[in-house]
Amino acid sequence: MSARNPFRPTFGVSPTILAGRDSLLQSFKLGLAEGPGSPFRALLISGSRGMGKTVLLNEFEDAAASQGWITLRAYPDDSMVDNLVNSAIPEALQQLAGPQSKRMLSSVSIPGIATVTAIADPYKKDPTPTLISRLRELATHLQKHGSGILITLDELQSANVDQLHVLATAVQDLLRDDFDIALVAAGLPEGINQLLQHEGTTFIRRAERILLSPVSTPDSIGMFIDTTAEGGKQMPEEAATLAAEISKGYPYSMQLTGSLAWAQSTLDNSAKISTQQVAAVRDEVIRRMGMQVHEPSLHHVPDGELTILYAIAQLSENDGMVSTGDIANLMKVKPNALSMQRKQLLSRGLIQVPKYGYLNFTLPYMREHLLNSPQHRPMI
Ligand SMILES: Nc1ncnc2c1ncn2[C@@H]1O[C@H](COP(=O)(O)OP(=O)(O)OP(=O)(O)O)[C@@H](O)[C@H]1O
Ligand SMILES: [Mg+2]
Repeated sequence: MSARNPFRPTFGVSPTILAGRDSLLQSFKLGLAEGPGSPFRALLISGSRGMGKTVLLNEFEDAAASQGWITLRAYPDDSMVDNLVNSAIPEALQQLAGPQSKRMLSSVSIPGIATVTAIADPYKKDPTPTLISRLRELATHLQKHGSGILITLDELQSANVDQLHVLATAVQDLLRDDFDIALVAAGLPEGINQLLQHEGTTFIRRAERILLSPVSTPDSIGMFIDTTAEGGKQMPEEAATLAAEISKGYPYSMQLTGSLAWAQSTLDNSAKISTQQVAAVRDEVIRRMGMQVHEPSLHHVPDGELTILYAIAQLSENDGMVSTGDIANLMKVKPNALSMQRKQLLSRGLIQVPKYGYLNFTLPYMREHLLNSPQHRPMI
């Protein structure tokens, strides 16, 4: 019987081995232990699709839980605050209350404001709980145990600005009163930048920004070797180096490359993953990146923008950058005629600006995908 594949080429699922996020995790843990003054109590994680944002949020939640903290997940829709106030926080309070601690929780006194009664007492409900009052109730209770509240918010770019404002104000209010609370939000870079231009997001704007970058080559090589070993096979360093090169430090393609190479070695009845087996799946990695990542992201892109993408694909070598002037030349227009579409493509997260006047693709193998799929090619 063959061993189970330890690679996870999917989204939002924690990998067998987490590569290259040790120092971030360490800073976060220190921030929780340090106290309300730590800048790591308000974090904004941004990164392109598949860069590992959701996985990092999960890791932060685990790290918080191991320090006894409670996590509240906020969902970026129009009932975000309502869900926190009327289900997530009451559930957390109920869990904490348990049968034996019911008496302790029934009346909680908070310095500076009137006595707030917790939901454990069915007859004296706070008539109109707000996010602030609910959070204070929970934080006050947790304070006795020396722990606090972590609020996580994924897909921040889809959040409703007004809801976000209420959430941010509440967190800020508790921090000001020295409660143990932390807010970590994650999303796509351009979407976040647009969101932060709204008034009412000042607190979030001041949060510590973390831009998730590709995993370094040594960390990536280590991940291939260790993940394969966890699954009960071996991957020599040379094979791992090639796998790191193919996947370019992008977490999703790292899992994809590992998973396909593992499958190839299983087909070959081999107890190790050889350099040849890694090389053999390279084309399939590119195809699958196209199917699972690039194709869906091109669905709603209008022709005008597609034309620019094709121009970049034609002009760039491998993942190289292309000057806006050259793109305009190829399209036989003036550079400033492209500015609207350029802006749209940036906000879709499909391209980025590596340096002034230049553009390149955000994710590996977009170039190959475009050049291999003429069905998207618009008429110029
Ligand atoms: N640090 C890491 N080391 C190894 N693999 C990782 C790492 N981070 C993420 N992965 C893998 O990459 C996949 C994609 O990660 P994740 O879903 O967190 O990306 P994301 O940035 O949230 O993407 P999206 O923008 O589409 O939501 C995960 O399923 C996981 O298997
Ligand atoms: Mg995600």
